[in-house]
Amino acid sequence: MILIEEIKRLKKEKNALILAHLYQSPEIQDIADIVGDSYFLSKKAMESESNLIVFCGVRFMAESAKILSPNKTILLPAKDARCPMADMAVVYKLQALKEDHPNAKVISYINTNLDIKAMSDVCVTSSSALKIMNNIKEDEIIFVPDRNLGEYIGEHFPNKKFILYDGFCPVHERVEESDIFELRTLYPTFEVLVHPECNKPVRLLADYIGSTSELITYSATSSADGFIVVTEEGVLHQMKAKSPNKKFIPLKNSMICPNMKMTTLQEVYNCLLNESNEVIIDEQSRLKALKALQNMHLLGDN
Ligand code: 13P
Ligand code: SF4
Repeated sequence: MILIEEIKRLKKEKNALILAHLYQSPEIQDIADIVGDSYFLSKKAMESESNLIVFCGVRFMAESAKILSPNKTILLPAKDARCPMADMAVVYKLQALKEDHPNAKVISYINTNLDIKAMSDVCVTSSSALKIMNNIKEDEIIFVPDRNLGEYIGEHFPNKKFILYDGFCPVHERVEESDIFELRTLYPTFEVLVHPECNKPVRLLADYIGSTSELITYSATSSADGFIVVTEEGVLHQMKAKSPNKKFIPLKNSMICPNMKMTTLQEVYNCLLNESNEVIIDEQSRLKALKALQNMHLLGDN
């Protein structure tokens, strides 16, 4: 396909790096240099020697890369791709929680906008949260915005008090137990893989809970020959590639994040050609949001 060849040519010519989240469409994952979960991509963007990064994902991911690497040019091909859960977190509500719990540490999911990161002590992702929490001394935690991920983390730290912001991912929240019961009857030997953005009744049906990359790794190493996959369908592409002899069944009620699917090959090409859709953050806002992301890597990498 000419478009794919042209993307490869431009990428080489400009020494650009293409990053893609695991929820991106298969054709986008296939042209990327690196495909991964939100923590891994954030780390790779920071470590990359390339000064031009095309971030195939949603805005908070590209913004996080820009905050950590202000001298790099970060392009977001789908300029309107946002995370509705990130948009649920608003300053005045978090401010009220902070005033009610002045001694609490504020932990925010990386799925947040700049203003919320600026009010946070540390960011986490699904793959790094438990490790980072082990390094947090405070007993009181405000977790924003995902109430499901916050509850899941809290279950691992029963001696800490978790105050949960009332946000959720619309794609994961609407999964119901009955969606899984039905498939388990059809595929009784298959294991159920669940992302922690799902609600508790759904998490209780899981054989394994983890971030996107953890679910993929688990599916490749487990002895099961099939899996019911309870997260955004983009992950099936890498699952199938890693384990071509295993079966992967998505829910009948499809789990598709419309924002993650906004990236197209044409936009990636345009972005590279024109160096358009650059993520611009004013220095004052960047510096305010920086500490929480730096702490994420400090506590998550060691
Ligand atoms: P992870 O890739 O960290 O599992 O996050 C999932 C997600 O919803 C990103 O928007
Ligand atoms: Fe946001 Fe959910 Fe889409 Fe991830 S899958 S970007 S949390 S809406």
